[in-house]
Amino acid sequence: MNEQALMATAKALLANSKGILAMDESTNTCNKRFAALGIPQTVDFRRAYRELIITTPDIENYISGLILYDETIRQQKKDGTPFIKAILDAGMLPGIKVDLGAKDLAGHPDEKVTEGLDGLRDRLKEYVLMGARFAKWRGVITTNDILPSMGCIAANAQALARYAALCQEVGLVPIVEMELLMEGEHTIHQCADVTEESLRAVFKELYLQNVMLEGIILKPNMVLAGISCTTQPTVRVVANATLKCLLRNVPAAVPGIAFLSGGQAAQLATERLNAMNSQHKLKLPWDLSFSFARAIQQPALEIWKGEEANIPAAQQALLHRAKSNTAARKGEYTIEMEK
Ligand code: 13P
Repeated sequence: MNEQALMATAKALLANSKGILAMDESTNTCNKRFAALGIPQTVDFRRAYRELIITTPDIENYISGLILYDETIRQQKKDGTPFIKAILDAGMLPGIKVDLGAKDLAGHPDEKVTEGLDGLRDRLKEYVLMGARFAKWRGVITTNDILPSMGCIAANAQALARYAALCQEVGLVPIVEMELLMEGEHTIHQCADVTEESLRAVFKELYLQNVMLEGIILKPNMVLAGISCTTQPTVRVVANATLKCLLRNVPAAVPGIAFLSGGQAAQLATERLNAMNSQHKLKLPWDLSFSFARAIQQPALEIWKGEEANIPAAQQALLHRAKSNTAARKGEYTIEMEK
């Protein structure tokens, strides 16, 4: 393991208040989002959409790295330039989602475990040869009155740690993502408890698998009430609850925390990130950043709708969200920026 190189990559992903743009939707997920907007669900439209994102003018001023999917990392721009080359030429880092999705966890009704460890070492080596510099694996946890089970948390935490160790072995910075899903009626307090328990399990497993904490990026959910919960907390309450949970459970050796958006409205995700950074930045041991997919992409996707004529307006919307989130990293975002 080249510790210095891993630390340098992690640092580059967090530098200059930039963040990570996740565009690693599986074919299924991408098709679902296209279908909802009447966009044809074909490989050509998926390629065109990913080209729109990668070639957004000035995006490199706000985005340090892009997470790709296996289909996307092998694709090219219309002019034949490989996506990976276009990303590197713009001064951004290419990353790759390497898990094979969340599957039913045997013995645990309604719970999932993320699969993809078999053969992972060889897949990672191929991605490194293609130019990838970091990777992503996502474990998902559901909560309600009886879930999650300890078995589900333990299985996902162990898989994440084994993935992270394999990544570091080949020189990829692992993004360690454990997501407590927003779907449900759970309160913010339940979310805080489950997030805390999951993070504790993840860091215990990372320790057992000899993962170098200075060479990872943690990608957690913010601490939120479920979308169907009748009491929705304010931005300030979310910011405080999230930071309390992270300060208790994330070692200071971790260089950065980059939140997922999880289905929050784009602007709200920005406001919450901004509140954390503006109120608390000086006392935080790690950088507090973003690794959003929907909260950056969704407004742009809704404008694009698969039409070539809409590309400039869609790129403008994408750039606006990236820029707003960079401002939120500095605690300098204001609602006026949305006008
Ligand atoms: P969202 O920001 O849409 O939650 O996606 C982030 C991600 O990478 C999910 O795995």
